Amino acid sequence: MHTEYSAPKRFSSTGTNAMRGDGTKMGADRSQSYQDDRGLTGESVGRPAGAGIRIGVVGVGYWGSKQLRVMQSTPGVARAVAIDARLPLLSGMGHLLANGGGYTSLRAALPHIDAVVVATPPASHVEVALEAIRAGKHVLVEKPMATSPAGARQLIDAARAAGVTLMTGHTFEYNGAVTMLRELVESQELGDLYYLDSARLNLGLYQSDVNVVSDLAPHDISIANYVLGSTPTSVRAWGSHHVDPVFEDVAHLELDYADIGVGAHIHVSWLDPRKVRLVTAVGSKKMAVFDDTDAAERIRVHDKAVLPNTDRRSPSRFSYHQGAITSPVVPFEEPLAVQARHFIECMRTGTAPRTDGANGLAVVEVIEAAQLSLAQDRRVLLEEVAGDGPPLPGLVPAPPSAAAPSAAGPSTAAPSAAGPAVTATAVTATVRA
Ligand SMILES: NC(=O)c1ccc[n+]([C@@H]2O[C@H](COP(=O)([O-])OP(=O)(O)OC[C@H]3O[C@@H](n4cnc5c(N)ncnc54)[C@H](O)[C@@H]3O)[C@@H](O)[C@H]2O)c1
Repeated sequence: MHTEYSAPKRFSSTGTNAMRGDGTKMGADRSQSYQDDRGLTGESVGRPAGAGIRIGVVGVGYWGSKQLRVMQSTPGVARAVAIDARLPLLSGMGHLLANGGGYTSLRAALPHIDAVVVATPPASHVEVALEAIRAGKHVLVEKPMATSPAGARQLIDAARAAGVTLMTGHTFEYNGAVTMLRELVESQELGDLYYLDSARLNLGLYQSDVNVVSDLAPHDISIANYVLGSTPTSVRAWGSHHVDPVFEDVAHLELDYADIGVGAHIHVSWLDPRKVRLVTAVGSKKMAVFDDTDAAERIRVHDKAVLPNTDRRSPSRFSYHQGAITSPVVPFEEPLAVQARHFIECMRTGTAPRTDGANGLAVVEVIEAAQLSLAQDRRVLLEEVAGDGPPLPGLVPAPPSAAAPSAAGPSTAAPSAAGPAVTATAVTATVRA
């Protein structure tokens, strides 16, 4: 289900509606010369034409600090400031408070910025983004856009009402290798696509407010939706928690893209000895592998296939084609930088981002369906989560009292043809309900 998109107002650093490429005014815009309901008045008024966009990155932890670095060198950005309640405690950030390069609250920063990147933990995305949107700021929200479809829709509606750009940080859709994988599928270079398989494994980083599905699978779901040019109709998920007392730290998802007859399998884990970042596309003629840990050969195309044996005298039912492995050159640029440029461009032109609110919502709905599948041990249709119901257990932070280890202990639940084991998932759902 997609929420209808309406084009946002364009950015202007002078309190006027849109800026042409040459910096001349195009009309009036309340969003930049804003006065919020607390009486704060933005410093946008009177800024010189073409002064550039001022970005505030809210949350400058692991990922936000990368966003800050990239935004600081993005063309069209006048300055990028850090916003984090823990700023004085963060390594190499404390000095920013003294020179106006940092703030400890979004409220304090609002008068000094035009746009916001939300890189706080997922459970706070909606609250932080709404504060920015309601102050007339353009917003880029990290994945997952929200921890419930209702939250994601709230952001879409608020951005539409405020006339600002809303973008989701689905970084992999700005990755040249993923685009090449999409082209290989789209052009039928691989033949008829049988399935996609995705693995995102590592030791940690354990998150405190969501399980591994909400933390890691948004990447794989966004890649699958982008590569397949579609969204799934149903989801099946299996998960288990081992070290984390509440949240699943290992999970498998099976996405059915029934309209195109393709399945996508996703394995995500915080509890694996190897760092694995693989997406495999298997077709009737060839197979392609995207390995994000292999900077030299991110894409490999295997000229391999299994074919029905037409020779009736042969004892085997299938023949195996084993051709060459090629590694096409992938024009590569840091995806975060490509994404940042696109955000600025969308603000300036008023065009919808490629990963707009609807794109973010589509991924959040799959996550929601996967959480429901984990909790109820069944396949979930996407249409079941298309309404505006309350967030499901497991998507919101568990109260401290619920964080006790389950009596059942760690589970070894995993997908199997005979049906999944359900103990940990069922117990987890009960504890959190
Ligand atoms: N696109 C990607 O490839 C990618 C990669 C990693 C993380 N992420 C996303 O980035 C976000 C942050 O993840 P992280 O690993 O950097 O987390 P983190 O815990 O390292 O950093 C979060 C920071 O946000 C700050 N914070 C929390 N609430 C705040 C608030 N209300 N106002 C201001 N600051 C606040 C915290 O003090 C902390 O410094 C998550 O949504 C995550 O899913 C995206």
